Amino acid sequence: MKRFEGKVVIVTGGASGQGEAACRLFAAEGASVVVADWNGEGAARLADEIGGVALRVDVSQEVDVIAMIRLAETRFGRLDVLFNNAGVGHSESARFKMASIVETPGEDWDNILAINLKGCAMGCKHAIPLMVRGGGGAIVNNASIMGIAGVPGADAYSAAKGGMISLTRVLAVEWIEKGVRVNCICPGPVATGMTAPMMETEEGRREVIGLSPAGRVATSEEVAKVAVFLASDDASFVNGVILPVDGGWAAR
Ligand SMILES: NC(=O)c1ccc[n+]([C@@H]2O[C@H](COP(=O)([O-])OP(=O)(O)OC[C@H]3O[C@@H](n4cnc5c(N)ncnc54)[C@H](O)[C@@H]3O)[C@@H](O)[C@H]2O)c1
Repeated sequence: MKRFEGKVVIVTGGASGQGEAACRLFAAEGASVVVADWNGEGAARLADEIGGVALRVDVSQEVDVIAMIRLAETRFGRLDVLFNNAGVGHSESARFKMASIVETPGEDWDNILAINLKGCAMGCKHAIPLMVRGGGGAIVNNASIMGIAGVPGADAYSAAKGGMISLTRVLAVEWIEKGVRVNCICPGPVATGMTAPMMETEEGRREVIGLSPAGRVATSEEVAKVAVFLASDDASFVNGVILPVDGGWAAR
């Protein structure tokens, strides 16, 4: 029996990187997967490939998040798993970048918190009632090692990820009696579109890899497997955990 047979899973930021890897793993384990991403074309391509459903969503917009949860309800009648994975540190289209607080315009601060923290919060807000109606569920939030400790130069991003960690803890305590588990992963550097620009130069590569005692970045699959475990019944008594997936970075 596959672990997610008969289960409905939403992955935000599902079109690429860790989210894409998670969509593939959930689908391979029998789940009906909603691939939600602001890259609607990428989401549609992946959904076609894995037999899922795609939705163009900007997680910073509550109306989009409501539509995403409603899609799971109308199409499948339930929601078992939400992987709050969508996130950005820098964005060429929105023209903001990771920076120290004195270099971060207030508008960038708003955008970075809206996508990373509010997006996660709105996902939880609208997923939990549907999960409770179905008898329970599991939420996994994708934060970062930058939410655990101070890594200079990504101040708004780090604050947003720290907020996701606190939100995970409070929701885990609030909702476990109703059958909803809430956990959080904190990846170290992962080889995705997010780190790709830094990996182009020797200096950038040294900076990124220097974050990991393992001396390398993780693959998306290495991180996604941990998210899938936390979402599965194999983790049925795991709740409120903040789990580094970082090759030992947090152990230093
Ligand atoms: N790559 C790393 O080194 C690293 C380390 C720690 C944590 N993270 C976190 O992992 C998560 C996944 O990132 P990734 O590394 O796979 O990068 P990625 O850029 O490959 O994937 C991020 C996905 O999120 C989507 N997205 C961005 N903003 C969105 C929005 N407002 N609404 C909907 N979708 C949106 C993007 O289109 C993209 O498909 C992020 O939350 C990121 O902060 C990444």
